[in-house]
Amino acid sequence: MKTIIEPFKIKSVEAVKTTTRQQREKILKKAYYNPFLIPAEDVLIDLLTDSGTSAMSAKQWAGILDGDESYAGSKSYIRFEQVTKKIFGFKYIMPVHQGRAAERILFTMLTSKIDKDGRFINVGNTKYIPSNNHFDTTRANIEFNGATAMDLVIEQGKHPSKIHPFKGNMDLKKLEKYINKIGAKNIPVCMHTITNNTGGGQPVSMENIKGVSKICKKYKIPFFIDACRFAENAYFIKTREKGYANKSILSICKEMFSYADGCTMSAKKDAFANIGGFIAMNDKNWYTQCKNLLIITEGYETYGGLAGRDMEAIAQGLEEILDESYLQYRIVSTKYLGDRLLKMGVPIIQPPGGHAIYVDAKGLLPHIPVDKFPGQALVAALYIEGGIRAVEIGSVMFGKYDEKGKTIPADMELVRLAIPRRVYTQSHIDYVLEIFESIKKKSKKIKGIKIIEEPKFLRHFTAKFAPAS
Ligand code: F0G
Repeated sequence: MKTIIEPFKIKSVEAVKTTTRQQREKILKKAYYNPFLIPAEDVLIDLLTDSGTSAMSAKQWAGILDGDESYAGSKSYIRFEQVTKKIFGFKYIMPVHQGRAAERILFTMLTSKIDKDGRFINVGNTKYIPSNNHFDTTRANIEFNGATAMDLVIEQGKHPSKIHPFKGNMDLKKLEKYINKIGAKNIPVCMHTITNNTGGGQPVSMENIKGVSKICKKYKIPFFIDACRFAENAYFIKTREKGYANKSILSICKEMFSYADGCTMSAKKDAFANIGGFIAMNDKNWYTQCKNLLIITEGYETYGGLAGRDMEAIAQGLEEILDESYLQYRIVSTKYLGDRLLKMGVPIIQPPGGHAIYVDAKGLLPHIPVDKFPGQALVAALYIEGGIRAVEIGSVMFGKYDEKGKTIPADMELVRLAIPRRVYTQSHIDYVLEIFESIKKKSKKIKGIKIIEEPKFLRHFTAKFAPAS
């Protein structure tokens, strides 16, 4: 097979800064051992997120200059609408400033009764929303409205070393059982996250999307897709699912969304944009209600919190992400990091996902108990050892407390190495591998972490930590 190379060349660059171990120890302490509190300038390789961190293409930058900033009906909105309709196929599209704004609008509407004056009265505590795995902001937007977010990923999806081609699939039997238990009328929507970020960037098969859609239709429950990484998901379908090898990425995308009633999307992922998102749907009544919420907090319906130039960059990015040679490079280069980590004995979620490698921190640091957060400890070690920034996806992000204040741990203790699109070269990734080599050698010496201050929602962003004694 031919070597798969980056299907682009670099036109503009940004310097990165190296720091000493001593400096990094100070910086991390000052940031309370929370990677979100480290100044980005002090990070050498930033694998915190693939969100909003993509390198834009020359054509996207050209679009930024060409953006039409008219308040209503801008030319950039019209292009944005055309491209999103072509790929996603829904009747109504509303731009928003990012994915969570789409979630806030959708779930505020779905957890409310609307009174005669059009006001939204919250009835969230009677509502239940299943998914394969809700992402943290999705879950927070559901729970903030008083509703219950339920994860129904297949059993294989919960075990890091289990191999399955579509580990992001939803368990259809569990879904139907859940609907029967809760009652379809209390489930205003069923979500499906493609690819499944919380579960390791794992894809969802077309068959599973179809299956969820069929069950939702049977019980008259609307079905929405969280579409952040839809193109990576489509590439996995093309290469792993029978019958799709000769289909274009665009036709696979169209088919995926044809089974749904709408979607939420963060354009900061598979649209190569630094900001933006949208909600799309077919139901006119829902659209009218969402539009009211949109106008109150995001903006008028043809810009929804974005500048015209942002919509131009998103439209161009959505065209570019459909390029199969880009997607092949993307999936193969992520796998390169995963395969080499495995080879050196670092446990990861297998097989490697689309946008990130998820290290099984509990497997790598078995001496650290879950209430001393092995994931957060590994995040700290990666920064001190090599100036690499990653994020914990485990009991810091998803853990809860029981009535006695004891930690109820998350299903897995992971550290995500998210790979920004078109940003790092293979030698950057080889450097990350070297740092893992040295962490692995001294893994027994790595100590746990404790929380010293935390907010009630989305605590991983702002909580303060210290080394556990
Ligand atoms: N859904 C999924 C699956 C996501 O991964 C994200 C964001 C969102 C919704 C929310 O989108 O950030 O534009 O508001 N994920 C980022 C991450 C933050 O790092 O994985 P947003």
